[in-house]
Amino acid sequence: MPDFPWSSLPQPVITEIEDLRRLYRRRVPKMFYDYTESGSWSEQTFRENSSDFDKLYFRQRVAMNMAGRSTASTMIGQDVAMPVALAPVGLTGMQHFDGEIKAARAAEAFGVPFCLSTMSICSIEDVASHTSAPFWMQVYTLKDDAFMQNLFDRAKEAKCSAAVITVDLQLLGQRHRDVKNGLSAPPKLTAKSVANMMTKAQWGMGMLQTKRRFFGNIVGHASGVTDPSSLSTWTAEAFDQSLDWGRIRQFRKMWDGPLIIKGIMDPRDALEACNVGADAIIVSNHGGRQLDGALSSIRALEPILDAVGDRIEVHIDSGIRSGQDMLKAVAMGAKAAWIGRAWVYGLGAMGQPGVTKALEVIHKELDTTMGLCGRTDIRSVDRDILLVPRDFSGDWA
Ligand SMILES: Cc1cc2nc3c(=O)[nH]c(=O)nc-3n(C[C@H](O)[C@H](O)[C@H](O)COP(=O)(O)O)c2cc1C
Repeated sequence: MPDFPWSSLPQPVITEIEDLRRLYRRRVPKMFYDYTESGSWSEQTFRENSSDFDKLYFRQRVAMNMAGRSTASTMIGQDVAMPVALAPVGLTGMQHFDGEIKAARAAEAFGVPFCLSTMSICSIEDVASHTSAPFWMQVYTLKDDAFMQNLFDRAKEAKCSAAVITVDLQLLGQRHRDVKNGLSAPPKLTAKSVANMMTKAQWGMGMLQTKRRFFGNIVGHASGVTDPSSLSTWTAEAFDQSLDWGRIRQFRKMWDGPLIIKGIMDPRDALEACNVGADAIIVSNHGGRQLDGALSSIRALEPILDAVGDRIEVHIDSGIRSGQDMLKAVAMGAKAAWIGRAWVYGLGAMGQPGVTKALEVIHKELDTTMGLCGRTDIRSVDRDILLVPRDFSGDWA
């Protein structure tokens, strides 16, 4: 079945990521839309991740010869068409059938990295067998050593070209709607959820023709999990609350390839990541889904860059919804930006073509804005293209 069975019918014109979000909301069951479009508790950090980008202004330049622009760059030494990666997002095979495979293929065709979540529906092996470019594997830090070693070994076997260890989710930040909706994969069939799913015909038709409806990296690989369909049960039982940098060093020994540490918001933790021998860090608050009341990632970036200097590549995610946000992140000093919700909106809206559309939108905005700022090469973009409020990164007591 094609991604978009009604593609012969007139389709909405997509010009921005927000168009994809609106379409996504219409086409995917509420439980999964809410899972994406939530932050923890009051959602302050979730909101500010995006709104803080609006506090940075571009410096318009003219007559600077903007011909022949290039957005090509590298991330951890790997060539990318633009320095944007698809962030790991759990349960994407519930947003659209075989969602992780579709997204990985879109990323491959575009020339940007795709990172598969530990909590994906399609397994590592499944994604590997449907793609040719190596993808990256995100790893949650679990208590079970055998499971961890096996996960790294499976990633190696699948030729993943980097591992991403997420260090900010030992406890689950509560997202009220997930609790109220009883989020699970596959979805639990209650009168309310069935009534809602019946209004999502395209989603339902896709789901009926795939067998991939469980956590593909976990079911059959993890022991002692009583309810593998429940994200919250699994997190509470399996995730390691005693995680410390010593334990992260053990993981470094389990994986000898390129390593990225995701979820850094403080300069001291960034320095620890350097000492562990990571190749990059991602300044991230998990898209505002974990510690509500934390700073937005874009505000947290500068002190981290000051602390680590050239010791490690610094990437960022959280709140990026446009090529302009992405360019601001790079101008503030990030080597690359990761997008989470922006690509999931595309996937839920239109399957693989929707992820491609999200990347196209971001690329076009990035390229045009860069030109209007008088720059022709993303690798030469620096803070001079921005007007940054003096107190933007804060002078916190
Ligand atoms: C629905 C959803 C599920 C996520 N699942 C994971 C995950 O499994 N592993 C992980 O490291 N991060 C996960 N994240 C966080 C993303 O990797 C990324 O940090 C975040 O989405 C960036 O913020 P943005 O969505 O505003 O771009 C998830 C984010 C969302 C929205």
